[in-house]
Amino acid sequence: MIDFDVKPYTGVRESCPKNLNRLCEEADAIVLGSPVYWGDISGLTKSFMETVSIPSADGKPALGISIAGGTGKGLLSGIQSIYHFFFHKRMRAINPTPVSRFNLEEATRELVDSGRKLVLLSREKKPFQNLNEVSRYYQSLPFLDCDILDEFMLLTTQLLRVSKSDRIEDARKDYEKAKSLIQRGERVEAMTYSVRAYESLYFKAE
Ligand SMILES: Cc1cc2nc3c(=O)[nH]c(=O)nc-3n(C[C@H](O)[C@H](O)[C@H](O)COP(=O)(O)O)c2cc1C
Repeated sequence: MIDFDVKPYTGVRESCPKNLNRLCEEADAIVLGSPVYWGDISGLTKSFMETVSIPSADGKPALGISIAGGTGKGLLSGIQSIYHFFFHKRMRAINPTPVSRFNLEEATRELVDSGRKLVLLSREKKPFQNLNEVSRYYQSLPFLDCDILDEFMLLTTQLLRVSKSDRIEDARKDYEKAKSLIQRGERVEAMTYSVRAYESLYFKAE
C-alpha cells in the first residue's frame, strides 16, 4: 500500500490510486494482510478500505491475515476489522488467519492450504443472493464474535505450545481453570486466570 501511495479518505469517494483499483477489480481473489497497531489494523490498511473501488467484489474470494507482531494482543480484533470490510464488500472470505509471534510457523503452513482453497474458489465465483445469505455466511466464520477473553485464551494456547518458561505448569493450571469457568459462563472470573497464564508465559521478541 505504501508502494501504491494509498492516501487517507478526504471526502472524494473511491479515490484509491487507479492502478490499485484496477488490480483489485481484475484479481480472481484478494489476500489482505495488516500489521496490528494498538489492537487494530494499520491506518494505511483502513485508508485502503475506505478509498478502494471494487465493483466486482460480490462473491470474490478473499482471505485476511492480521499480524500482531509484538505482545500478540489485538490479533483477533485486527482480524475482525479485515473481515468486517470483506463482509460489507460482500466478498466470499475464507479462513480468517490471526497471527502472532507465537503461532507464526503454524499460521504460515495453514496459509499455504488457504491459498490453494482460494485458487479453487476463484475458478467459480459465486455472488451472494441477498444480505441474509452474506450475513449468515459471515456468522459461520471463526473468530468474528470473539472478545478480549477469547484473545487471551488463544494467545495462551499458542504460548503453551512454544514457551520454555519454567512456569509452564502453573500457567497450564490457570488456563484450565479459566476454561472451566468459561464453560460455566463465568467469563469475568475467567479473565483473571487467563491473563495470569498469558503473563507468566509471555516473552519479549529477541
Ligand atoms: C504503533 C504500533 C502499535 C503496535 N501495536 C501492537 C499491538 O497492539 N499488538 C501487537 O502484538 N503488536 C503491536 N505492534 C507491533 C506490530 O504488530 C509489528 O511491528 C508488526 O507486526 C510488524 O512487524 P515488524 O515490526 O517485525 O515488521 C505495534 C507496532 C506499532 C508500530
